[in-house]
Amino acid sequence: MLTGVAGAHELRLGLITPPSHIWTKAAEDFGADLAAATDGAHTITVFPAQQLGNEAEMMQQLQTGALDMAFLTVAEVSNRVPDFGAFYAPFLANDIGHAGRILQSDLAASMLEDLPAKAGVVGIGYGMAGLRQIEAKGKVESAADLKGKKLRITPFKPILDFYNLLGAAPTPMPLPAVYDALANGQVNAIDMDAEMIWKMKYYEQAETIIVSNHMMFPMVGLVSAKVWKGMSEDDRALISKLMKARLDEVVATFVVKDSEWLEQVRDTGANFMEVDATFFGDVPAQWDEIWSEQSAVLGQMREAAAASAE
Ligand code: BEZ
Repeated sequence: MLTGVAGAHELRLGLITPPSHIWTKAAEDFGADLAAATDGAHTITVFPAQQLGNEAEMMQQLQTGALDMAFLTVAEVSNRVPDFGAFYAPFLANDIGHAGRILQSDLAASMLEDLPAKAGVVGIGYGMAGLRQIEAKGKVESAADLKGKKLRITPFKPILDFYNLLGAAPTPMPLPAVYDALANGQVNAIDMDAEMIWKMKYYEQAETIIVSNHMMFPMVGLVSAKVWKGMSEDDRALISKLMKARLDEVVATFVVKDSEWLEQVRDTGANFMEVDATFFGDVPAQWDEIWSEQSAVLGQMREAAAASAE
């Protein structure tokens, strides 16, 4: 945080998504809202596409106060605070609207309260990307066809466990590296959401789209706890209100658009396979067994999901 003229702040917000991504736009809109609400006294410069480092590095910068704010995948947070792994329980959400409701649960809100003590960051609210799908080169008829396949995953433990249980060869790789890795054959399948499959044209690189909706993919808006301590109560309240409103908008956008993006991919003639939990055999149950030991809130998360199902 740079402090200039009496109480003015130039804040920096980092994220890994490309400039055109909904998360990046939301960060920019939040910056514009904050500048407008403070007559330009507080400004935010947004650094997309991993310009400030990968998510692990940005998390470290938040902890030291070198970075003011970030929109990070909950994946990265779960690497530090394993309770957050519960959000990745396979088939926790029945559909994308349900995923949005789970993020609005009291449990989700209460988990943010742990972040200053456990991770040195203040959690303002949740955003998300769509539900996870699998895109693969070649024909896939059953989960057995994924065995041994080099399958790109976001680097975090809950999803690593899922694909290890499935017998695939999960390959952790940050988002900006995915297109090239798929194009040059470094991986022959990816775990991804519909927006990215459509907008980044991943569907051109692998012909089979397994529509499984197997996991949620939450994001969290964070402020460095160190920076937060130096802010006035009024600034904290304003930043919370404005950032939360833009994060809520991200969730609402994905709820509406997730299935539209999938339909657009389908219209290209891609080979679509719609599957449900049975496709994965007993992997979801085995995952719960592992994660009930790692995340103290997994049981409560399943209950919160059941309570908000329709
Ligand atoms: C991913 O790692 O797949 C991802 C990260 C951020 C936004 C969307 C997807």
